[in-house]
Amino acid sequence: MVRVLGILAGILMVFVSLWSFGHGVYAFISSPPQKSVEKRFHEEPRPLALASDGLFGKYDREQLQRGFQVYKEVCSSCHSLKLVAFRNLQDLGYSEAEVKAIATNWQVEVPDVDPKTGDPKGRKALPSDHFPSPFQNEVAARAANNNALPPDLSLITKAREGGPAYVYSLITGYRPVPANLPAENRPGPTLHYNPWFANLNIAMPPPLKSDGQVSYADGTKPTIDQMAKDIAAFLAWTAEPRLENRHADGEVTLLFLLIATILAYMAYQNVWHGGASRAVRRTGVLDPENMAKRDAASAGGLDG
Ligand code: HEC
Repeated sequence: MVRVLGILAGILMVFVSLWSFGHGVYAFISSPPQKSVEKRFHEEPRPLALASDGLFGKYDREQLQRGFQVYKEVCSSCHSLKLVAFRNLQDLGYSEAEVKAIATNWQVEVPDVDPKTGDPKGRKALPSDHFPSPFQNEVAARAANNNALPPDLSLITKAREGGPAYVYSLITGYRPVPANLPAENRPGPTLHYNPWFANLNIAMPPPLKSDGQVSYADGTKPTIDQMAKDIAAFLAWTAEPRLENRHADGEVTLLFLLIATILAYMAYQNVWHGGASRAVRRTGVLDPENMAKRDAASAGGLDG
């Protein structure tokens, strides 16, 4: 009796599953899912080739220095970089003295306390300090940005699909509002249409406004496109300053595996070179008689 009930319950389950599957297929065909407005207008990141790409990629120090300059002169008035210390800039090729000067002259002081009174106070940055936030706190940051919060940029290239290519596309991606954009998706007075941003309307005003906004010491022409590429490359570095070590480790590992493979092949050739492998080839099995013959032959050989 219990068995019959079990079978009936099973049949019922199968029937319900099939019915719900069929219903889903029918609904999908009769009214296919609509793409949201955001999806329809959204653009994929534009391709960006960086020297650090690929298995053997290395950072282009000059580009990183240019990108740092863009960060310092443009982005740092709104965005912090709290996971990066001034002394990390030595990786970009700045000397110790240059790093010290950059820290001391940084436009905002780092928060500290007065050692006598315990009152909060600012002090000049040291190379060991991390890049301070331009704002006292989140409320101040929002107050200065129409209630939007400029995110910390240390890991932004890891946090967004497309990474550096996304940053590059985003900051060069301000476009006139398309005529066919539905009213509810049009940017409000404090927002800016940018089809690379997830919801199409970003609170950040276009940070790069004109060619020559920064002047590069290495003679590179500071077009908007170039500055955008450089800051994207710099933010790829802030998110992964140890990338070159990782690549170097990978190269050593690949070399090791290659050598190990060659050695293993040579060992295989050596071990299976004698009669055993021939015996196997002839008969298809490890024939004890053949093996014995081989052993006798090789023993004889030794004697002779
Ligand atoms: C005037 C202040 C200001 C400046 C200058 C500025 N930003 Fe922003 N940025 C913002 C604000 C505000 C947001 C948050 C936007 C939002 O949530 O709509 C933001 C967001 C971003 C984002 C995140 C977008 C996302 O996907 O969430 C990136 C990346 C970014 N900014 C990069 C930069 C770079 C690079 C520079 C320098 C070239 C720069 N910003 C300069 C205010 C600024």
